Amino acid sequence: MPEHFLTGTELGADGLHALLDRALELKADPAGSQALRSRHVALLFDKPSTRTRVSFEAGVVEMGGHPLVLRGEELQLSRGESPRDTALVLSRHVAAIGVRTGDHAVVEELAGSADVPVINMLTARHHPCQALADLLTLREHFGTLDGLRLAYVGDGNNVARSLALVGGLAGVDVVVSSPSGYRLEPEAGARLVDDPGEAVAGAHAVYADVWVSMGDEDTARERRAALAPYRLDGALLDRAADGAIALHCLPAHPGEEISADVLYGSRQRIWDQAENRRHAQKALLEALLR
Ligand code: CP
Repeated sequence: MPEHFLTGTELGADGLHALLDRALELKADPAGSQALRSRHVALLFDKPSTRTRVSFEAGVVEMGGHPLVLRGEELQLSRGESPRDTALVLSRHVAAIGVRTGDHAVVEELAGSADVPVINMLTARHHPCQALADLLTLREHFGTLDGLRLAYVGDGNNVARSLALVGGLAGVDVVVSSPSGYRLEPEAGARLVDDPGEAVAGAHAVYADVWVSMGDEDTARERRAALAPYRLDGALLDRAADGAIALHCLPAHPGEEISADVLYGSRQRIWDQAENRRHAQKALLEALLR
């Protein structure tokens, strides 16, 4: 059975720490792995992407491989071919399959039938590749994850869930602060704190994500109203620990979930975070294809 990466917890704590070590090595030496030489990686996108697509595509090439970017609407999958049959066919051609889609069950179904590793590049439930880059950014900035607290403010969505699960696995104290109706389920393992000011107290990093995710457009107005007190701005960041950094998985809406002065200011590590997608995912591909 191939190993898959669907929620991020598959790595285990030791595997996760080893992956972050390797990602830092690969960041320092981008040509340091040729693990994909003469191999192909299918990257299936059912939803738009900038960071995930570019970081995976560039990363696969840096590792000597060939990325096959497949748009969902161009595949027979869009005409009713099953995820099972798609997985069986792709497994005959490629070394790994990355998938971005809405329904997490589709990724599970692909993984259930694939003979090669399947990587979740985002579903409505989980965004584990993002969490790897987030942890890498914390490691890089603070030198260690030991004793770190990360406060996520806003919608208790897939990004919050992956931070709770994967951050918790790494030993980071993850606090999630959301209004009623947008809270993360307690089972994800984060500490849930209603008040955003209380949530960020003592945090080494404060994290924001969009208020209207892909698929939430119909409820945009009520989401913006409910989430307005959870904006990551300078005043909220001032309530965090001394030297705290701002994080955001992007794309951002300056003036909405994050203020422009924080997004482009000296306390953010958001653009490093976007770059770190590539380094973390290269380490992930190497680990899965060992
Ligand atoms: N953060 C993230 O996944 O960005 P994209 O949607 O642009 O891939």
